[in-house]
Amino acid sequence: MRGKFLVLEGMDGTGKTTQAMRLIDKLVAQGRNPLHLREPGTTELGERLRDILLDNNRPAMSPKTEALLFFASRSEMLSSAVEPALEAGRDVICERFTPSTVAYQGLNPELVKFVLGIDGLVVEASLSPDLVLILDLPAEESLARATGQGQADNFEARGLDFQKQVRSGYAAYAKNRPATTALIDVDGLSPDQVETAIDAALSQLFENV
Ligand code: TYD
Repeated sequence: MRGKFLVLEGMDGTGKTTQAMRLIDKLVAQGRNPLHLREPGTTELGERLRDILLDNNRPAMSPKTEALLFFASRSEMLSSAVEPALEAGRDVICERFTPSTVAYQGLNPELVKFVLGIDGLVVEASLSPDLVLILDLPAEESLARATGQGQADNFEARGLDFQKQVRSGYAAYAKNRPATTALIDVDGLSPDQVETAIDAALSQLFENV
């Protein structure tokens, strides 16, 4: 049986990695063989693109160029990691995917259209996520948690207004895709409480999580 493709999304500091690891452990305990991926990155090319994209001293680039580099990383990850895993029956848990590009590079309606157009070319229907979980936090809280974790990367350094726009981008993405997206408010929740909310959202996708 084909594996499930699950994407964990949300701004910096929302706890995506913690929750991805908890889910992986549960799937392993069920005898499944999940694959944990992240964007940008995963492949050798993707990790090099990540170094460029997150670098505070990188050359200037437009949001369209930025989006294309994220999609270059995504395209490589899809063909070399996601597709073979799903075909082999492995579940794929990926931190960030196209919703990040919509939220971070889709700074106006024309850019959202551009991002979704590229998505239509790069992400075949058979490789679309079965479910996207977006962990939602107020921008102030996300920024405080992210910058508390060390030096701000290129995106964290863009300030509060940018983070607020990203949050609205995620909310609009979720609103337009209720069947395949769950927006989970994690403000004030402990990791255990977030896990319970995620399990509820996943109950139809995986049995016994
Ligand atoms: P990362 O350190 O992975 O953030 P986190 O640990 O919170 O997931 O950094 C990835 C950064 O790249 C993050 O700030 C969001 C940004 N990004 C985009 O702007 N567009 C994209 O398409 C993707 C995948 C990430």
